[in-house]
Amino acid sequence: MRSPGFTADFGELWPWESMPAAQQPEWREHAAYGEVCRTLASAPPLVTVAEIQHLRWSLARLLTAEALILQAGDCAESFYECTEPHTTEKLRVIDTLGDRLGDLADRSVIRVGRMGGQFAKPRSQATERHGELSIPSFRGHMINSEIAAPPTRQINPRRMLWAYDASGKVLRAMREHRRGYGRMTALAGPWSSHEALVIDYEAQLVRRDSDTNDLYLTSTHLPWVGERTRHLDGAQVALLASVVNPAGCKIGPTATPDDVLHLCETLNPRRELGRLMLIPRMGRDRIQDVLPPIVRRVVNAGHPVIWVSDPMHGNTVKSPEVGLKTRYLADVITEALQFRDIIEENRQHAAGLHIEVAASDVTECIGGSVKGEDDLLRHYSSLCDPRLNVDQATELIEAWAKGVATRQA
Ligand code: PEP
Ligand code: CO
Repeated sequence: MRSPGFTADFGELWPWESMPAAQQPEWREHAAYGEVCRTLASAPPLVTVAEIQHLRWSLARLLTAEALILQAGDCAESFYECTEPHTTEKLRVIDTLGDRLGDLADRSVIRVGRMGGQFAKPRSQATERHGELSIPSFRGHMINSEIAAPPTRQINPRRMLWAYDASGKVLRAMREHRRGYGRMTALAGPWSSHEALVIDYEAQLVRRDSDTNDLYLTSTHLPWVGERTRHLDGAQVALLASVVNPAGCKIGPTATPDDVLHLCETLNPRRELGRLMLIPRMGRDRIQDVLPPIVRRVVNAGHPVIWVSDPMHGNTVKSPEVGLKTRYLADVITEALQFRDIIEENRQHAAGLHIEVAASDVTECIGGSVKGEDDLLRHYSSLCDPRLNVDQATELIEAWAKGVATRQA
């Protein structure tokens, strides 16, 4: 059954179908594949046109210093943590951090969760070692299991249906939470976001609005394209270029000013306000060299870009002693502040932060009460990248907001 407002588009060749898609699970031969895709194609949309339009309108305010954004959540969501209490707890953390940022910077803060669909991970290595064994890497609950015992790392397209159901649960709880804000809803969110990675899944949830004929990605409010899949001629960029949702794009240290300008032209050819968010994630040691010429090129071309810092993904290290991935809070803060300075030197608004943060008191990043590598072992539960705990995220936000407040004075 189709939902009111959306029409089916059977038989059309979509722009992304003729583009190569990086980082895809090879499951098209699986017996369940066809049925899963048909089921998703006829499933109700997870988000509405009105919500997406609302978010676009809110995001346009990030082009000036009027508002800030906090995009936060797990690196990879877990199917086991999509219950209403789990979602409420995650939203409480985003609210606590958003409120702190808003109070210190004296700005309203748009809240966006890395949640309600963040179930697929791009991986640099196809396999990982477990003692003597080499097994396929964990690629997010939409694709395989985190359990490191063969054969449970097999990919399974049915997981796309489970991801859809899990997202639905989270999104319903987020909608309830949004209602609780009352009149503040106009700005605050919380909105959903995830990396639009698995084309089989995302493509089935693209729908045409029968009033305007526009395409919407109905799996989330704010999809983004990751550093490993931001190819101009890639399927993920083509998909996000085809829909009217606001779109994010990560920008890593190998990006050139030309690459980024072309991404702006592809993802926002009509230069619409509130449409494109660029999320540099350069690393503390690279940002000073790489980001300034990119920002200059984009600004000189007159592209209205929302600039958001991901100070985490360029600062991941493997701890030599305990062998776990970690990040030093000091590096994260350094990159975030360098980002803000670079953006402001170019007379643009440094709109906010994109961070990985846990709702529980994890010890995955080093800083604050997590003093060294040995402390990492105390409570390390991330399915993928190391997340800040709430105290560490608060320290980052306070450092960021201090600069904003000083500039205002
Ligand atoms: C992520 O956000 O978890 C991620 C994989 O980021 P990036 O694409 O920037 O590496
Ligand atoms: Co991550």
